[in-house]
Amino acid sequence: GSIAVIMPAAGSGQRFGSQSNKLFANLDGKPLWQHAVDRFESRSDVGLLVLAVSADDESIFREQISELNCNLPIRLVRGGATRSESVQAGLDEVLRFTNEPGDRSKPPTIDRVAIHDAARPLVRQSDLDRVFAEATSSGAALLVAPVSGTLKRDTGSGSQTVDRRNMYVALTPQVFAIDVIRQAYARDRGRMATDDAQLVERTGHPVQLVTGSADNLKITYPEDLRIAEAILNECRS
Ligand code: CTP
Ligand code: MG
Repeated sequence: GSIAVIMPAAGSGQRFGSQSNKLFANLDGKPLWQHAVDRFESRSDVGLLVLAVSADDESIFREQISELNCNLPIRLVRGGATRSESVQAGLDEVLRFTNEPGDRSKPPTIDRVAIHDAARPLVRQSDLDRVFAEATSSGAALLVAPVSGTLKRDTGSGSQTVDRRNMYVALTPQVFAIDVIRQAYARDRGRMATDDAQLVERTGHPVQLVTGSADNLKITYPEDLRIAEAILNECRS
């Protein structure tokens, strides 16, 4: 496979509020983070998965990975204090991997990097197909969902309605040609961004929007887990 997946998993799940990281919460019989990994595992276009984890959680991740029956090479790296720093650590590992001498007859050539939150267990294969293809043709693409409610801006003296026709919410994965994301992170090393597309936008490289399913939710609060359970059950029936 020619795509490396970076999974930021080094948060602490403050808003979820459980004792251990929300990523270890049980969803349909396995930890939440494993669902996210599973969505990429069987794809022939994915050749490497890098999980960025915190020092506190590293031993649990190691143990759970060792129990996985996974065909995909998974590497663990130490994440940082912010999501951007965790992605940076993952990216450094991807670049190390691509520079390693190949010990197999055909070493994988990584040409794209997909960044996907470990807290998004429900991304659909058809959405991955589309965002991966768009990144191949344009070099940078992200999944988005249309804004469904009416958007208001607080002007200070009252409310103003924002035209939502061209407004979207950013999802993941966000997928980039390897040189595009490498340059974006090299340029902005250490600088904050709420997502990866923002760093690429700053370089002037256009990032294409790919409308995906709104099912691709991020588990933030405990109630999100119940919604995810319902969506998984619906997919089975
Ligand atoms: N993340 C990370 N490194 C950080 C912070 C977040 O790798 N320093 C990861 C999280 O583990 C998660 C993803 O980025 O998979 C999205 O972040 P979020 O949903 O905000 O998770 P947390 O930061 O863990 O939750 P909270 O903000 O409620 O503490
Ligand atoms: Mg967070």
